[in-house]
Amino acid sequence: MNAAIRAVVRAATFHGIEVVGVKRGFQGLHEGDMHLMGPRDVANIIQRGGTILLTARSHTWRSPEGRTKGANHLRAWGVDGLIVIGGDGSFHGAHYLQQEHGIPVIGVPGTIDNDLYGTDHTIGYFTAVETALDAVDKLRDTAASHERIFVVEVMGRHAGHIALDVAVAGGAEEVFLPEDEHPAEHIAEVVRTSAAKGKASSILIVAEGYPGGGEAVTKAIQAQTGLDTRLTILGHIQRGGSPVSSDRVLASRLGEAAVLALIDGKSDVMVGRGLGGMTFTPLSETWEKRKDVSRDLYRCAKTLSV
Ligand code: F6P
Repeated sequence: MNAAIRAVVRAATFHGIEVVGVKRGFQGLHEGDMHLMGPRDVANIIQRGGTILLTARSHTWRSPEGRTKGANHLRAWGVDGLIVIGGDGSFHGAHYLQQEHGIPVIGVPGTIDNDLYGTDHTIGYFTAVETALDAVDKLRDTAASHERIFVVEVMGRHAGHIALDVAVAGGAEEVFLPEDEHPAEHIAEVVRTSAAKGKASSILIVAEGYPGGGEAVTKAIQAQTGLDTRLTILGHIQRGGSPVSSDRVLASRLGEAAVLALIDGKSDVMVGRGLGGMTFTPLSETWEKRKDVSRDLYRCAKTLSV
């Protein structure tokens, strides 16, 4: 997110536009917690995780009155357009602000879950995958030495993108996604089959959004096989740390593209990146349409765990 903030501030400055930073997202906009930002204010942040502008889940923004207050603060500061970095919830907020108050808004996809339609990748996703993968590699040492089963729960409240990438890159025996149904008997079957194939240890990746999460999978294995099984929930470590290069480059591109989009007169769209280059997707489509996990990659994960 910091790389995106830096890109917005620097690109706007390059084009002769002043930037006002808003603290804590819509919460700060509602409260008028805003300040001018120049190119030197975003120095030395491209390598830092989190966001220097802070973030919050704002309840006040859910009401039209809350949004009117925010719109008034924007007008008082002479703001001509708003760039919102975030996910589904942030884009809903931006869309309503545009609809109700006519303030041009551009969304920049920032969520580790990579679950936004309209862009191949979201800011933070690559770093989250690397962090989870590093943990899986380390857990594999104990799994192999103790000949144990390790269940690793990764983030992804509604989507299995992180889980699937980590499973393939980490050489996991099985992956459990929110998008898929695994009958309870199948879970133990995976472990039994692995053992029958001569595997002494197994790594199973579970997305947090899979029904019951890692705990359900671990309990099912223990109850049905009696095998020594350990659960590791990676949790919020996946949301922090110095971003990997792909995230920094993506955030830089998207931040610049958001500024250019506002200059171009675009509004109510999310800037994204696909194979063909930059994309612009109506904000409402980003939550109305679904970006499914790659079925090819899912098949690949199954094939390679033979
Ligand atoms: O929405 C992105 C996400 O990383 C989810 O995968 C995860 O469930 C959630 O954020 C955690 O956020 P919080 O700490 O606010 O519950």
